[in-house]
Amino acid sequence: MSNFHFVDDYEQHVDQLIRNHPLAEAMSLAVGGYYEEFSVILAEVLVQNGLRNGMSLVDLGCGSGRAAKGISKRVQIEYLGTDVVKRLLDYAVTVCPRHYRFKCHQELSVPAADASADMVCAFSLFTHLLHEESYIYLQESHRVLKPGGKVVMSFLEFANPCHWAIFAPTMEARRNNARQPLNMFIERNVIDVWCEHLGFVRESFVDGTDNRWNGSAVGQSLAVLRKPN
Ligand SMILES: C[S@@+](CC[C@H](N)C(=O)[O-])C[C@H]1O[C@@H](n2cnc3c(N)ncnc32)[C@H](O)[C@@H]1O
Repeated sequence: MSNFHFVDDYEQHVDQLIRNHPLAEAMSLAVGGYYEEFSVILAEVLVQNGLRNGMSLVDLGCGSGRAAKGISKRVQIEYLGTDVVKRLLDYAVTVCPRHYRFKCHQELSVPAADASADMVCAFSLFTHLLHEESYIYLQESHRVLKPGGKVVMSFLEFANPCHWAIFAPTMEARRNNARQPLNMFIERNVIDVWCEHLGFVRESFVDGTDNRWNGSAVGQSLAVLRKPN
């Protein structure tokens, strides 16, 4: 069976960055840049949404450990990060506590037991997947969450004018048939329909372009979904 598009695209993307940049810079660019700043912001997003000491978190598409590094400085938790690119995970291990687990998993599933996690996060992941793929990950997230557990996900939407800055170059790349990881937008009504089918309660949508996280912005929009008790 051939690889999923995201495996080939991201492996190639990361290889190219490693060839052209010093390692730490490549590892930052591979996950969107601003590594240290986002490490703090993403951890803050999770803490503001209820991540506490003693909880268990699954970080889907964790990349080079940008969120994980910040989380480890805020709370004591059980952490599992998954990604499709091994070279990113090899780097993540070097910036995180030893008990943090990282798994290279090139499947559309979450390698965790049923009802084992308090929270699942997916930052800048569904922005690179087809809707069916994101839906499957949410289905899997519902399975691995404990009752009352939450998904915190970021997404791009046309309703936010700031996100056009992602769409415009994506369109140009498509026009030129340039190979790059997919950029996918998801509208809020789509997330609500998914929640209905999946049995999630959508708790909130947040405009990530305001500076509510200690004076910083996430950039992408955020959705928080809860598995009912
Ligand atoms: C923009 S980066 C964001 C990384 C990390 N979440 C962060 O915010 O620092 C997207 C990540 O998703 C990973 N990825 C792409 N497709 C994936 C998939 N189907 N499952 C898991 N990870 C995937 C990529 O390898 C990359 O590390």
